Amino acid sequence: MSLELDPQHERAIDDLIARLSWEEKLAQLQIAYRPRFEDAAALVRSGIGAVFWPGDADRTNELQRVAREESAHGIPVLVGLDVIHGQYTIFPTPLAQAASFDPEVAAMDARTSAAEAASGGVTWTFSPMIDVSPDPRWGRIVEGFGEDPWLNAVFGAAKVRGYQGDLGAGTLLACAKHYVAYGLAEGGRDYNTVDASEYRLRNGAAEPFRVAVEAGVASVMASFNTVAGRPMHANRRWLTEVLKTEWAHAGLVVGDADGVVQLVPHGVAATEADAVALALTAGLDVEMGGHVIASDGRAVVTEADVPLARIDDAVRRVLRLKFARGLMTDPFVDAGAEVRVPSSETLAAAREAARRCPVLLANDGTLPIAPTASVLVVGPYAESTDHLGTWTQSFAAKSGSLVDALRAAMPEGRVTSLPGAQFFRRDPAGQVEAVRAARQHDVVIVAVGEPSSLSGEASSRSDLTLTGDQADLIHSIAATGVPFAVVLVTGRPLIMSEWIDAAPSVLLAWHLGTQGPQAIADLLLGVVSPGGKLPVSIPRSVGQIPVTYDHENTGRPPRIRGQLEHVEIDVAVVGPGNTDDYYTSKYLDLDLGPQFAFGHGLSYSTFEISAPVIPSPVVDAATVATEGVRVTATVTNTGEVTADEVVQLYVRDVVASLARPVRRLRGMRRVTLAPGASTRVEFTLGAHDLGFWGDGPTAELIVEPGEFEVHVGGSVQSTRVASLTVR
Ligand code: NOJ
Repeated sequence: MSLELDPQHERAIDDLIARLSWEEKLAQLQIAYRPRFEDAAALVRSGIGAVFWPGDADRTNELQRVAREESAHGIPVLVGLDVIHGQYTIFPTPLAQAASFDPEVAAMDARTSAAEAASGGVTWTFSPMIDVSPDPRWGRIVEGFGEDPWLNAVFGAAKVRGYQGDLGAGTLLACAKHYVAYGLAEGGRDYNTVDASEYRLRNGAAEPFRVAVEAGVASVMASFNTVAGRPMHANRRWLTEVLKTEWAHAGLVVGDADGVVQLVPHGVAATEADAVALALTAGLDVEMGGHVIASDGRAVVTEADVPLARIDDAVRRVLRLKFARGLMTDPFVDAGAEVRVPSSETLAAAREAARRCPVLLANDGTLPIAPTASVLVVGPYAESTDHLGTWTQSFAAKSGSLVDALRAAMPEGRVTSLPGAQFFRRDPAGQVEAVRAARQHDVVIVAVGEPSSLSGEASSRSDLTLTGDQADLIHSIAATGVPFAVVLVTGRPLIMSEWIDAAPSVLLAWHLGTQGPQAIADLLLGVVSPGGKLPVSIPRSVGQIPVTYDHENTGRPPRIRGQLEHVEIDVAVVGPGNTDDYYTSKYLDLDLGPQFAFGHGLSYSTFEISAPVIPSPVVDAATVATEGVRVTATVTNTGEVTADEVVQLYVRDVVASLARPVRRLRGMRRVTLAPGASTRVEFTLGAHDLGFWGDGPTAELIVEPGEFEVHVGGSVQSTRVASLTVR
């Protein structure tokens, strides 16, 4: 897809711009945010450029009719909506999708969501969110693709392509958000301040946006936070110099809801009018909220506040999207073909996606459950139907419960359920009853987690343990000696240290959408084997945050007892252990490393991954840039069942002019293998994989000569290494 228009359309845009008054131009730069229908119609009549609207064919057609027939210039409106992980058929949350390590999951969600939402007249989604986040306290970690910039970039680009397709009927204009560094909020508190160097941002939070622009994303949303004292809605450096000039973003830059007028409480604008002027001048094109044109139709800024050329450029970007998406030719949808409920195909796609996302953290052999076993399901997630996850519309197709799904999949009379614990209070009597019942069953599933209302926007938490008496329930069931497995249904990574040693089998199931419970049942019963991997490191305690695998080494990396021959240990990459050295980078009261490392995930089989083979291990920088470096590895299913493994490739630049991360994910392949089968996977490392953005005054991707370690394995902790030299 391309935002490039043919010359005839560019001329049509010139003509339109020439005919619009100053007020009419500014009206194109405004999104009416969640208006009542009557108000939306009136605003459209007065020439507003976009409406935030949930999408139903009759009413969006009516809005487009008003735009075409009753507004002064007949320009159709963009109809925007947060279609985040499904419209009617809900897919796993984005963080769960990242755990599939399979970008096709995100693409399938995006194509399905686009078809469903577009059938009701939506033309623009405020998705994907590609905010790199190292902090599970931040409730919005659920909306992005985890802690790793490369994973966010790959999944973000897959979503952009999936939504936008060829920009024909049934597609949506995408919006990469939130630009930039929203996920780095201090303390994990939503909307909070960020201060980060350009070196860190370009190699981290900004990189997925550069890649989204490369993939042709139609719009980019400014984030609510400041970066180094400059609120992003008025940040000329990042909005204009980097995004539009350096990266050549041809689409829109849109403000977040009321983000422009929030420049007043940020303390950089005295009035809302000043805020609008600051934002538009800095390079923001469209305001979400309705503060550019006052309710009496007057523009709040004049040409003395914002140069005409800047406004014309912003209007051109809006009109370009309307042409590119075909609205100028035909803004209407066929109300007879509107989708209002999932089809059997979309449900099958959602189930397949949901099966690929859970991560088997630990297993003592209790899983999978024998189909003939008698099963007790306890915990608040036994009967809860809260599986959709944050950011779904009220009309989305609901899920059933885990116990319903297990009953449907198992012979009659084998599945019993009892709550045994509560999300928000303690239920000692219920727990006693659950323990008594456990003794009468072959196996217990303890279905616990975090309700979806506790993650998402404005839902940061300072305590990431299980709420209510859920942890007690795990201990009580463990004390019975009956085999059991914990199923953890959650938006964000939780702290597990309170109970993890008592729980030898744990399936991290996330919020998986409309078909979540069926998918969890499929995995518990071994219909398919879990194959997901962690897109975030799971901390041991809140005090350890941020703990990410791609940290720099420090000058005093700890050494692990018993391994003192090693000069250094990569803190977030090692397993548990403690250090003998006092003056090293560690906590006195905590084991080194995360509870579960990035990339970790078991299956019902076992795999052997060979050491990486680099046929040409000495290359020059020019060859890296043109041909790349080939790396292969062989993966073998050494177990008894067909299962998936994700072969992961990490790079380490051993000596560089700037401190580099101890590992950087640069490749992944998810493969399905029958017992005994093997396959060879191949990766090509290019300049972006071996190089990094320097810290000079102009952006430069540097590939420095020297040694690189290339690690390949089934998680960041279990890799085998080969050496590569760039001359
Ligand atoms: C605020 C959120 O930050 C953003 O992600 C969303 O798209 C807008 N609200 C619109 O609902």
